[in-house]
Amino acid sequence: MNDRGKIIAGLIIFFAVFTFPFWYNHGAASSVPEPKLTDKAKAAKTCVADTQFMRTEHMKLLDAWRDTVVREGGRVYTNENGKEFMASLSNTCMDCHSNKTEFCDRCHNYVSSDPYCWDCHTYPKEEK
Ligand code: HEC
Ligand code: HEC
Ligand code: HEC
Repeated sequence: MNDRGKIIAGLIIFFAVFTFPFWYNHGAASSVPEPKLTDKAKAAKTCVADTQFMRTEHMKLLDAWRDTVVREGGRVYTNENGKEFMASLSNTCMDCHSNKTEFCDRCHNYVSSDPYCWDCHTYPKEEK
């Protein structure tokens, strides 16, 4: 019967170690990035396309924009709702999402992605 204390202590240690990743991150299995919207984006309410689509496919949309502009000379993008946007990374995306560090970078840092676009394309200067 003397082992009872040891078993309980063992169980407590096991439980603490096993659940460490959970309580260490304050209950979340891992901290997912939370991209922040600018006031301008909030006022616009919607992105150039459906949010779920943007979340997963924005890189493909940017590629498509680049192709239409560079190869076909078309600068207007019309979305599903018939709304028109100028197909431009710096002038359109970065106009609403002018907070690159708190928006684009939050996600990209999380997935260790570092798009090389900024070697040539500009983004608005941010104030701290
Ligand atoms: C007219 C302003 C506006 C423009 C222009 C715009 N966005 Fe957005 N974007 C938004 C808003 C508002 C949301 C959030 C929509 C929501 O909460 O449903 C958003 C959401 C997103 C998301 C998803 C964020 C998340 O929390 O998952 C991504 C990614 C994104 N935008 C990228 C882009 C890119 C890339 C471009 C250019 C191709 C662009 N946006 C152009 C306003 C804009
Ligand atoms: C909701 C999270 C999220 C937001 C917000 C976001 N991205 Fe991304 N982005 C990703 C993910 C995930 C990838 C894919 C990374 C990979 O496959 O390596 C990616 C990839 C990209 C790529 C392709 C990179 C490459 O090397 O192929 C570009 C370009 C890009 N994002 C531009 C932007 C721009 C510009 C913004 C801000 C206007 C933005 N993203 C905001 C999550 C996000
Ligand atoms: C080596 C320099 C360079 C790099 C790197 C680069 N681009 Fe471009 N991009 C250009 C040039 C030059 C144009 C043509 C500009 C014009 O005609 O307005 C262009 C045009 C574009 C356009 C359409 C016009 C506009 O105003 O945005 C998009 C969208 C675009 N690029 C997206 C990207 C994305 C996304 C990346 C990163 C994955 C990227 N580019 C990386 C040089 C570059």
